[in-house]
Amino acid sequence: MKILKTTDLLKNHNDICLVPTMGALHDGHISLIHKAKETGLKIVVSIFVNKLQFNDEQDFVNYPRDIEKDIKILNDLDVDFAFIPDEETIYPKSGFENLYSGNVGNKYEGSSRPGHFDGVLTIVNRLFQLIRPHTVIFGSKDIQQLFFIKKLITFKLGLGALERNTIFFECFFNWSTASIAFGLRATPLCITPHKSITKVSYSLNISAKWFSSLNLLVLSF
Ligand code: PAF
Repeated sequence: MKILKTTDLLKNHNDICLVPTMGALHDGHISLIHKAKETGLKIVVSIFVNKLQFNDEQDFVNYPRDIEKDIKILNDLDVDFAFIPDEETIYPKSGFENLYSGNVGNKYEGSSRPGHFDGVLTIVNRLFQLIRPHTVIFGSKDIQQLFFIKKLITFKLGLGALERNTIFFECFFNWSTASIAFGLRATPLCITPHKSITKVSYSLNISAKWFSSLNLLVLSF
């Protein structure tokens, strides 16, 4: 496994499956990585604790970080690349785009976490720009986050007509990283051992130049 601080080495790859994380890897992430391996693509796991999605500075400071343990997990899983950028790479002085989640971002979970979904959209967009993945994998632990990620893909990448966006719904033990951060007991929200509940295929017409196709894989309940 190569550990990358920048994406220079990834420039010529159009075969990347990206699993974005904020580290503190647990069983949920590991199930995403196993799914990534099934794609046969090169696997990039990004680890970046994105301060923009923390509305409380103290939560950001207290967020669990154990990079050595994470690297060992990724090594054992035989991931191709661990992308562990520093802040300058993610938030450059120029060319940096802040995204806004609008009204929906202030509702539901967002009502108690002002700015959270702006921060999520901003970082996911930045990771897409840097890595240009062929496939991205997200857990569905946060339905509202997923809603925004789908919107981002549709809007930013011009996926007006979804053609080949394949979504897998699978059983996924939802160990909440936030629970670990705040010292609560992580709770598996899903205990039904379905393998593949359903699979939906759409059409995809991608105008973004680096995406000849993009798959969004969602592991869920
Ligand atoms: O779900 C998460 O772990 C984070 O919100 C994400 C998508 C990695 C962005 O920082």
